[in-house]
Amino acid sequence: MSSVSAAEFDGGPVEATGPFGLPIDAGLAADARTALAGVEALLLDAVRSEDPLLTQASKHLVEAGGKRFRAMLVVLAAQFGDKTAPGVVPAAVVVELTHLATLYHDDVMDEAPVRRGQESANARWTNTVAILTGDYLFARASDLLADLGPEAVRIQARAFARLVRGQIQETVGPAADADPLKHYLQVVADKTGSLIAVSGQFGALLAGAPPHVVDTITSACEKIGVAFQLSDDILDITSDAEQSGKTPGTDLREGIRTLPMHLVLAGAGSGPDDARLRELLDTDLTDDALHAEALALLRAHPAMDQARADLRRWAEDARAELMTLPDIPARAAFTGLCDYVVTRTG
Ligand code: IPE
Ligand code: IPE
Ligand code: MG
Ligand code: MG
Repeated sequence: MSSVSAAEFDGGPVEATGPFGLPIDAGLAADARTALAGVEALLLDAVRSEDPLLTQASKHLVEAGGKRFRAMLVVLAAQFGDKTAPGVVPAAVVVELTHLATLYHDDVMDEAPVRRGQESANARWTNTVAILTGDYLFARASDLLADLGPEAVRIQARAFARLVRGQIQETVGPAADADPLKHYLQVVADKTGSLIAVSGQFGALLAGAPPHVVDTITSACEKIGVAFQLSDDILDITSDAEQSGKTPGTDLREGIRTLPMHLVLAGAGSGPDDARLRELLDTDLTDDALHAEALALLRAHPAMDQARADLRRWAEDARAELMTLPDIPARAAFTGLCDYVVTRTG
């Protein structure tokens, strides 16, 4: 895993392929390169602490990379207003810091040993260090946010409340009389759609884009966020550690039911080993042999293709909304992200 580096933009005169495989013209490539370089510098600066362990534990995952997908959304959305507005880069840092903080906490929740291709903070140090480092990153994000004004503070606070609600509702699971698939989609929108929506919202808002543009970008980014989590859940089943920088099959091991599992349990498609797979999905899969068996059966099940079709629908809905925006190069890049969330491998 590596971070999106400036070198990924070739900045050619006609059309270059930017990070995330985006169609990106030379002008936009140069803008994005400058903004994202500013984001990297400010991110590293933001995580410095007087305490050496806090600095080390914070820098650990910042330096391990990450896609900076949310920062890219801020930068692209800012193109619809004054892209050089002073709040744009700090806003991108705020969303990346908030995201990173949730990863420290999420890895404690999931007992995940690997993140961004490195040992997770909980594995490298302890749960206590990982939790406190996550808290520290939230505090650093809030500090930067204060300079962006009360509206930005409120937007981030509400998204963060949704994110936490999504995480807790995933942990608790659906009520006995609730529709499990509906519950799952609500969790996905809350835990992931919320912050990805704010990324687009911040970029457009802080660049002073017209209110209807801010609203369209926010709504489309929420859908991109749902699609992003659906693809993460599919990749948790299909990808290897090399590609994702995470441990495959974590959701199964932790007993977290994601879209393909819900589709299997709802009787979608039919695989030869349906009954066995359903039985395994109701079993504690912390046992290595059972986990491997469930993972193999799930990978081969037709529900995987149905899940991919659902993912494509979310991405297409986002694209349709984005197409109502002014036709500037950033719109093509934005719609390129709708392809990226469907085709990404890590
Ligand atoms: C991982 O997010 C957590 C999810 C919401 C799926 P990313 O896939 O954006 O993680 P990094 O930042 O690239 O490591
Ligand atoms: C967590 O979802 C999303 C957050 C809000 C942190 P996952 O548990 O699927 O994220 P990964 O797969 O560990 O990155
Ligand atoms: Mg996780
Ligand atoms: Mg995941």
